Amino acid sequence: MKYLSKTPKQTMKIGEEFAKTLTSGDVVLLHGDLGAGKTAFTKGIAKGLNIQKEITSPTYAYMNDYDGILYHYDCYRLSSGEDAEALGLTDYFYGDGVCVIEWSENIKSVLPKKVKSVTINKIDEKTREIII
Ligand SMILES: Nc1ncnc2c1ncn2[C@@H]1O[C@H](COP(=O)(O)OP(=O)(O)OP(=O)(O)O)[C@@H](O)[C@H]1O
Ligand SMILES: [Mg+2]
Repeated sequence: MKYLSKTPKQTMKIGEEFAKTLTSGDVVLLHGDLGAGKTAFTKGIAKGLNIQKEITSPTYAYMNDYDGILYHYDCYRLSSGEDAEALGLTDYFYGDGVCVIEWSENIKSVLPKKVKSVTINKIDEKTREIII
């Protein structure tokens, strides 16, 4: 499915709807450039999963754990799958929570075989194309 979003709020709403299709143990890869809206989309997923805590970008922590329900990854600063493994980040891929991964391209070698992918393309300053 292709969606057009004109505001961060709309992107969140699409993420919230997408969350309804998720089941325990799903691994979601979010593709898109810097500032595309991957974290905004994740905020919507969190809302859809009934997480009350505010979602912040895990850029420096690599991964934020929201009560074992959602694991939000930002692998921008990782350079290999081996690094992710050494940091213990890959353990959650096979657990009960939902994993949402930004910049998964950097850890390709350790991603599970079965994943769901979402792509966010910047069309202009405010417009995003979201492909699910
Ligand atoms: N339609 C839109 N949907 C989402 N974000 C939008 C939209 N229009 C403008 N923006 C802006 O784009 C930026 C998206 O930031 P966000 O942190 O979600 O991106 P990101 O893909 O996670 O980037 P990064 O790779 O740096 O983590 C925000 O500054 C937001 O205000
Ligand atoms: Mg982000």
